[in-house]
Amino acid sequence: MSKKDIHPIFERLLQREDRQKRLGQQSKVLWLTGLSGSGKSTIALTLERMLFENGFFAQVLDGDNIRSGINNNLSFSMEDRQENIRRIAEVSRLYLHSGIIAINCFISPTKAIRAFARDIIGAEDFLEIYINAPLDVCESRDVKGLYQKARRGELKEFTGIDSPYEAPEQPDLEIRTDQATIEEATEMLYRFLLPQIQIKN
Ligand code: ADX
Repeated sequence: MSKKDIHPIFERLLQREDRQKRLGQQSKVLWLTGLSGSGKSTIALTLERMLFENGFFAQVLDGDNIRSGINNNLSFSMEDRQENIRRIAEVSRLYLHSGIIAINCFISPTKAIRAFARDIIGAEDFLEIYINAPLDVCESRDVKGLYQKARRGELKEFTGIDSPYEAPEQPDLEIRTDQATIEEATEMLYRFLLPQIQIKN
């Protein structure tokens, strides 16, 4: 099969705007980046609930879930991480055009990988949120026991240990999770997000 045989339809009878209106929100992709154990998923799930309770419609996508399903054939080599992010970005784009707010939690360790995601999603809809906790804090939390495994050499290419993490230089928002509670962090994110998702008349 060649690419010539694929005919995507771009003309739609229902527009993103119609769906947004129905849902009473502007859709966006929130892209949470940070080390494993920095608190991305916890904040995302708390935010998802807070949005829901306030009448918004959002969906969390996170590394551990996506990697046990749609991306279960991918490793943690840089190449596979990029493919992981490419697929996630494409899926988020579908959410975006359905009027849904996507809350993504992926380490997405390099600037190039995040730029790639931004290109797929569109810069105007991509909000980069840096969930920042120093490596030693994430390592001491070690919720999943993975840092210990990585230090023992039982887990290779672990972000922050033997695989790089490049912090964003100009994120749309940075949250230091070693200096705020989950509630404070989520509140901060909610307040930042609100003006971006409220429908403009
Ligand atoms: S990413 O680098 O491709 O963006 P992703 O966010 O999907 O990573 O997955 C990260 C999660 O996978 C971590 O939270 C951790 O639970 C698990 N994991 C398993 N092995 C690794 C590894 N080598 N490096 C980082 N995370 C790993």
